[in-house]
Amino acid sequence: MLKNTLLVTGTAGFIGSACARLLMDEYDFHLVSLDALTYAGHLSTLLPIMDNPRHTFVHGDIADTALVTRLLDEHRPRAILNFAAESHVDRSILGPETFVQTNVVGTLRLLECARAYWNGMDEADKAAFRYLQVSTDEVYGTLKPEDPAFTEDTPYAPNSPYAASKAAADHLVRAWHETYGMPVLTTHCGNNYGPWQFPEKLIPLVITQALAGGDLPIYGDGMQVRDWIYMEDHVRGILAVLEKGRVGERYNIGGFGETFNLNIVHTICDTLDSIKPRSDGQSYRTQIRFVKDRPGHDRRYAISPAKTSGELGWSPRESVATGLRKTIEWYVANGEWVKQVKDKGFRDWLEAQYAQRMAHGKGLAASSAQASGSSAG
Ligand code: NAD
Ligand code: DAU
Repeated sequence: MLKNTLLVTGTAGFIGSACARLLMDEYDFHLVSLDALTYAGHLSTLLPIMDNPRHTFVHGDIADTALVTRLLDEHRPRAILNFAAESHVDRSILGPETFVQTNVVGTLRLLECARAYWNGMDEADKAAFRYLQVSTDEVYGTLKPEDPAFTEDTPYAPNSPYAASKAAADHLVRAWHETYGMPVLTTHCGNNYGPWQFPEKLIPLVITQALAGGDLPIYGDGMQVRDWIYMEDHVRGILAVLEKGRVGERYNIGGFGETFNLNIVHTICDTLDSIKPRSDGQSYRTQIRFVKDRPGHDRRYAISPAKTSGELGWSPRESVATGLRKTIEWYVANGEWVKQVKDKGFRDWLEAQYAQRMAHGKGLAASSAQASGSSAG
């Protein structure tokens, strides 16, 4: 007999933790959360729900078949939501192998555990069970300015090692439905932002670098377009797909947030100028630096959530203007968390990643170490 329990993976990361917190705050599910606590996983993101009796956290790898099998047998979840992944495009360029290990092999192992578990169920439970794969819009490749937004019928054309590994995982999920009849769902989303995001991604990197008095690195001309969505809107979309999505289908989740990178960075600088002005009276915009572009950099993403909205009645609550403001305020108020996660490993990464991009060849490490959480204002 299935229980009102979800097994959610990647819950110490940015979006997985948002899902875990929302599940505890607004739903009555029991939650078993599984995370390998890589550099991107921080238990602090789960602190608000660590003592909740409906939540069990397990430190482990999705590729650990024995562990996942035990968790499924013990907890009898009615669904598995797979957020666990290596998620940063720049890291996939410097070291693709871990991306294949977690995103492809990890997904394969999780699917195989789910299949064995599902095969052992009676017909009613088999029909009720769901495996949901959290994917990305990057599997669709890049768009020209005049192209229509990605739909669920857009052919796959991944350009980065990260996107290729996510696409491979999606293909496995699809095949497990077509071949074995597994009740799967797949969601695709654009660029997420919000509180608790590890500061390697554009928005938290720029906010935290700005406050630390460091460089704000813009790849190329900064005129790339991303389709931004507040992470809680993404999570609510995933939960709508879980509850009401048609088995075997893919659903796009988008926030109507198409924006040039440079505009995002300008908005962050201008907002900080008004809520936490620099002590020298200058604008944070003076910290912007144009740096060498990312290889294979996708020019534009835009994702149409028409199917998800039309079929499931989901729509985003936040605009980029409201969500970004909330996010900036959160980082200004949570310097301690930023200090905690910007450990030596992260400073080494900044050095390695940005040394090759910056004209002075020194990376961003000096600036983040210099203030390490202290404010320029
Ligand atoms: P994240 O990097 O912040 O978190 C990933 C989490 O997965 C970390 O807590 C990490 O410890 C955990 N993890 C990594 N390898 C693991 C393994 N082998 N076993 C168990 N746990 C492991 O990522 P995120 O931004 O929260 O993204 C979550 C998911 O959403 C990913 O699948 C990503 O591809 C997808 N996604 C992200 C975005 C985005 O903008 N961030 C957009 C669309 C889709
Ligand atoms: O589209 C969904 C994807 O969005 C997710 O699947 C990925 O997990 C997530 O990391 C994100 O990928 P991006 O590569 O778009 O995100 P990132 O924050 O790394 O970069 C956003 C844009 O900003 C991109 O055009 C590159 C640019 N950029 C990024 C960094 C880190 C810069 O100009 N400077 C930077 O220092």
